[in-house]
Amino acid sequence: MHYRDCSCGALRAKDVGRLITLSGWVASRRDHGGVIFIDLRDRDGITQVVFHPEQNAQAAATAHTLRSEDVICVHGKIVARLAGTENEALPTGSLELVASTLEVINRSQVPPFPMEERIGNEDLRLTYRYLDLRRPEMTANLRLRHRVTKIIRDMLDQEGFWEVETPILCNSTPEGARDFLVPARLSPGKFYALPQAPQQYKQLLMVGGVDRYFQIARCFRDEDLRADRQPEFTQVDLEASFISEEDIFSLIEKIFQKILLETRAVEIKTPFLRMTYHEAMNRYGSDKPDTRFKMELSDVSTIFTQTEFKVFAHALDHGGVIKALNAKGFASITSGQIETLTDVAKSAGAKGLAFIKVENGEWKSPIVKFFTDAQKAALAKQMNMEEGDLILFGADCFETACMALGRVRLKVAELQKIFIDHDQLAFLWVVDFPLLAYSEEENKWNAVHHPFTRPKDEDAELLLSGQLAEIRAQAYDIVLNGVEIGGGSMRIHESELQARIFGALGIDENVQKELFGHLLKAFEYGAPPHGGIALGLDRLISLLAQEESIREVIAFPKNNRGMELMTGSPSHVDEKDLRVLSIATRSKQS
Ligand code: AMO
Ligand code: AMP
Repeated sequence: MHYRDCSCGALRAKDVGRLITLSGWVASRRDHGGVIFIDLRDRDGITQVVFHPEQNAQAAATAHTLRSEDVICVHGKIVARLAGTENEALPTGSLELVASTLEVINRSQVPPFPMEERIGNEDLRLTYRYLDLRRPEMTANLRLRHRVTKIIRDMLDQEGFWEVETPILCNSTPEGARDFLVPARLSPGKFYALPQAPQQYKQLLMVGGVDRYFQIARCFRDEDLRADRQPEFTQVDLEASFISEEDIFSLIEKIFQKILLETRAVEIKTPFLRMTYHEAMNRYGSDKPDTRFKMELSDVSTIFTQTEFKVFAHALDHGGVIKALNAKGFASITSGQIETLTDVAKSAGAKGLAFIKVENGEWKSPIVKFFTDAQKAALAKQMNMEEGDLILFGADCFETACMALGRVRLKVAELQKIFIDHDQLAFLWVVDFPLLAYSEEENKWNAVHHPFTRPKDEDAELLLSGQLAEIRAQAYDIVLNGVEIGGGSMRIHESELQARIFGALGIDENVQKELFGHLLKAFEYGAPPHGGIALGLDRLISLLAQEESIREVIAFPKNNRGMELMTGSPSHVDEKDLRVLSIATRSKQS
């Protein structure tokens, strides 16, 4: 059977007069006094098909029975639509196919949700994802993802990068999340880990002389899920030898220029803005600041070196800071909203959220009674306090105070509905991350990026003298509109330095040998200096598509409980299958 001459989105005015066969799905059917109009849809678009009963009674009668999502094949003549009946919104809107034959290929049940709009019940969409994917906005997202991936592949090829696949069944590589484990039947009691990233393999490819590697790599991380986190996601992962950070920056900027030019016809300016981690935290309270709006944090510590207010005094006595934020014109905030903001601050580890409302010429606040007139004057000046303003405070160690107010800043922008130009693309490199961070909870140092990250040459001495908090890394993140869309670093390529960093992370020599012996050994056989980056492809596409959640740009995502609802994974496994894998399950209580 001949199904079609072209797609449902292909026909234009120049095709008028042609005899054409089209196949697709019935998007809608309208009956105008016996004349039946069908919108015929496929992934490329919609063509209007008309059945005239006086020309072909049988086809018109069958067309009358068509329902949404039936699959049909039609043949007929392309004619111009009558003046005034064109549909400007459709590229095919100036014409229609006058059907002479109709074949019903497959009938559809009534879809569980209307196909024209995005329904709120995401679980239902995911259960019937194959229907959801037919909707034009989802088709557009998949198309965009394909295009962007293709642009990246072509560019990296031109730049001399080779696409190399690395194992999915492997050993654990720490990226800061929990591993997904796969039992190894042939080695009873042992497990493979699914890669959190191909980090070690790509470095070993550099030792292997591959020089420039990339991979559209699937990564697996067992962490709590959010709108921008999936347990399996895709990275554009790359690594190169004999390069510097600057080479990575300009390569990535070039890739983004090309992506924006080809997908949005927008020319973006390079080089992108750069900001140190410290500056990002200090000004925006985030290592991924959304720089599309101001409302910057201010440090008011010096105003309160002598204060009666215990919360401020306590923070300063313990080496902390007092940060403040002016939410301009938000004195009208409700007490419910203050509570919401306080919860947001607390989610970042703050103990509270002090505030001042400037209303009717007065400062309304439970804390101003502790302030001297001089302090009030200094605060009013530094924070540019005006009638109608709301000042919010965070008093804590630097990181906690900044992070708490950083989150509050975003929430205020949301509550105040601050205008953000959604077409704007605020790219930013965040550089000079600390190499290590101390975890009070675990009572140990952790790598901020990952343990293979190179310290800055000029900070190497700090490692010897044990000033671990001060060491900066040759690590960088790329941020777009407040979302971290990529991260990378220059790597350690010397066995001895790598072992020293493992040591600082509290990994003793035996464990080092067991977990990373291959890497330490490889570095003894002539490892080139190297570095790289990984872009979060799902996040990047969701930003380009202006979607809130990365689930909208993944064909078959997991829901926010980690379940893939269409096929029902994860699912139960028979006891006998587990026995083969030498695994026994325990009940929750034991
Ligand atoms: P990193 O851990 O920063 O670096 O990951 C790189 C980028 O991947 C995206 N990403 C995610 N996207 C969706 N769901 C997730 N659960 C998720 N986790 C991370 C983010 C992030 O910026 N091996 C290093 C890269 C390197 O050093 O070259 C790495 O994986 O956009
Ligand atoms: P309290 O003296 O505990 O009643 O706190 C007075 C005000 O200070 C309340 O609005 C608290 O939310 C706020 N507050 C408490 N701890 C902090 C902190 N670490 N940083 C900023 N504000 C705080």
